[in-house]
Amino acid sequence: MILVTGAAGKTGRAILRALAGSGEPTRALIRRSEQSSGVKALGAREAVVGDLRKRESLGRAIDGVRVVYLICPNVSPDEVEIGRSIIGACRQAGVERVVYHSVLHPQIEAMPHHWSKLRVEELLLASNLDFTILQPAAYMQNVLAQRRSIVEEGVYPVPYAASTRLGMIDLADVAEVAARVLTEQGHERATYELASDEVLTQSEVAEHLSRVLARPVRVEEVLREEWEAQARLRGVPDFSINCLLAMFRYYERCGFWGNGRVLAALLGRPAVAFGTFAREALSAEM
Ligand SMILES: NC(=O)c1ccc[n+]([C@@H]2O[C@H](COP(=O)([O-])OP(=O)(O)OC[C@H]3O[C@@H](n4cnc5c(N)ncnc54)[C@H](OP(=O)(O)O)[C@@H]3O)[C@@H](O)[C@H]2O)c1
Repeated sequence: MILVTGAAGKTGRAILRALAGSGEPTRALIRRSEQSSGVKALGAREAVVGDLRKRESLGRAIDGVRVVYLICPNVSPDEVEIGRSIIGACRQAGVERVVYHSVLHPQIEAMPHHWSKLRVEELLLASNLDFTILQPAAYMQNVLAQRRSIVEEGVYPVPYAASTRLGMIDLADVAEVAARVLTEQGHERATYELASDEVLTQSEVAEHLSRVLARPVRVEEVLREEWEAQARLRGVPDFSINCLLAMFRYYERCGFWGNGRVLAALLGRPAVAFGTFAREALSAEM
């Protein structure tokens, strides 16, 4: 049995979908019971409702599990504590392996939510568990958060300079690799950077979107003060706002990309390019 935590989220759903054809039974840890039918429709054999912050939930979720795919809540102030508690529960329950969904370049201290993942990686190194660490770059799917603006107004808004260079990857590629790592032998104690050699400025992202939609899409630089005000109106917690602002500043100052070799080798083919991804994702609007 493979346990996937954060299973009803963007990443968790992609992992369940990729595991569906593997024949391995999966258990989805979800936060709310109404998410049960959704994760089962994606292929989860079982769904367990629980809170990653509560030890008793973890015990129930981990019972009888061989491998845990650990996805922590997005931009969480207590990711290290969640990691520590799951690693402890896995050791106690005799789980064989933990595959941790980390992030590209977790050592960047200027991004506190990346830094927390480095600390969890460190806990895994010291845990005596078999583990694999996946370090994915930013997902191409993040661009779709602006789908309405892109499609209806021809505007791609970003809270950093249009010249900011990012190397994004398709979440479906990440999930395909995760399914391999979860079901094959030979990935014990490996740390895999899942990145792309395709590095695009935000203007180039907008050019791709224009080509796909066959109409102009322009990048619009949103002032970070404006982004922050909108986020506060939406009730985004302070910790998340501060981490995301730090991330935007870092992106603008240094860019954010890695090397695509490991991802391509694990996939056994080139990673999906942004143009291909955008064509598929936006085909309904073309
Ligand atoms: N987005 C990227 O580009 C990217 C790149 C690399 C790594 N990552 C990492 O990927 C991870 C997942 O991101 P995501 O975008 O998939 O996030 P997401 O869509 O917000 O999914 C997170 C899931 O975790 C659940 N959750 C939150 N708190 C929980 C708790 N206390 N107990 C149990 N479940 C809880 C959420 O439940 P609800 O559905 O109830 O909210 C949600 O289903 C994050 O750690 C992120 O740092 C993301």
